[in-house]
Amino acid sequence: MLEKNARLAVRSTSIMRGSERPAVGRGRDLAVTCQKGNTSDECAADGQMESRGDQDREAYHLSVLADEVLEVLAVSEGDVVFDGTLGGGGHSERLLESGAQVIACDRDPAALAYARERLAGYGEQFRAYHGNYDQMDQLLAAAGEKDGVDGIILDLGISSKHVDDAGRGFSFAKDGPLDMRMDSTAELTAELMVNDEDEAELRRIFWEYGEERAARAVVRAIVKAREEGRIETTGQLAALIESVIPRRGRRHPATKVFQALRIAVNDELGHLQRALEKTVFCLKPGGKLAIISFHSLEDRMVKRFLRQHSLAMLDRPEWPEPKVNPECFFSLPMKKPWVPGTYELENNPRARSAKLRAAVRLGSESQSMRNKNSYAK
Ligand SMILES: C[S@@+](CC[C@H](N)C(=O)[O-])C[C@H]1O[C@@H](n2cnc3c(N)ncnc32)[C@H](O)[C@@H]1O
Repeated sequence: MLEKNARLAVRSTSIMRGSERPAVGRGRDLAVTCQKGNTSDECAADGQMESRGDQDREAYHLSVLADEVLEVLAVSEGDVVFDGTLGGGGHSERLLESGAQVIACDRDPAALAYARERLAGYGEQFRAYHGNYDQMDQLLAAAGEKDGVDGIILDLGISSKHVDDAGRGFSFAKDGPLDMRMDSTAELTAELMVNDEDEAELRRIFWEYGEERAARAVVRAIVKAREEGRIETTGQLAALIESVIPRRGRRHPATKVFQALRIAVNDELGHLQRALEKTVFCLKPGGKLAIISFHSLEDRMVKRFLRQHSLAMLDRPEWPEPKVNPECFFSLPMKKPWVPGTYELENNPRARSAKLRAAVRLGSESQSMRNKNSYAK
């Protein structure tokens, strides 16, 4: 354990901007295929099949910082890892290839179906559930893992498939129903929020979750438009926002409002806060946590939580002396987050705002269980 932690610490000081090396995925897949004893022509044919498979997967979602996640989680054969954001199954697949058992969930039934099919070949090594990562304790109990897991990966937000599929209503660039639900079985949609939410709450959402300075003007325009009829499509909403916020530079004026609505419709920050608290008792001592965030609100929340629970001592000016932190649950193998390197960014520009933070669970089993009582609410 110490050895692995030391390795992470060294890497974090030397490679802050992620690896510059080519991704290993496709090359490695082909190498494995050819080791099966095929002739070179068969290898070429297999190669074409592999690359078609790769293309499907890349079209669904390209996993972000996959090598780095693997390095942080440092799984050994038989370790159990919880993947709370299964998506297209890319991170899970890498973990399964490393010999880990993966228990996964996704709140999107369509993602779950896709990843289950993709990873069906792993049999019992892979178990996936429809659910929210803030129910990780219940999901792990249902999977028979009552003593905690060796690793947890949360790759926050939506997948490329969500953005690219106009029918899911996440994109201002493609006209579709104003939906934005990650979980298509949930009741609240962006359409309901935009048309039925009161003005003050909409202003709060656009300001707090989108940091949109023009929140007041946008809400005024929405309320006026509501008098004429419901705003039902992403195109209608994007055009309305553009009529209030003029285009400047390359960023679409609707970017922040769409981000804010998505966060609110899916209660993304609420789920993240509850999930962070549960990692404390869902990880075994020595277990590792990897979290990839894509915007500053998420990253700030992760950073604060990990800082608060990794300080050995607490101090305040009004105290006579520093006190031992009774909630010091983690050590942090790297001070700064890892971000994608140039190679990854060239191949996947959508990875540009990704930040990976990691932590290692301290303490004894009994401490984990004690903490469960203070966290499980
Ligand atoms: C960025 S994608 C994950 C991609 C995945 N790591 C991969 O390599 O293909 C995020 C996924 O997490 C899911 N998700 C987001 N919030 C969730 C939550 N609170 N609980 C469960 N799944 C969630 C989304 O539906 C989406 O499929």
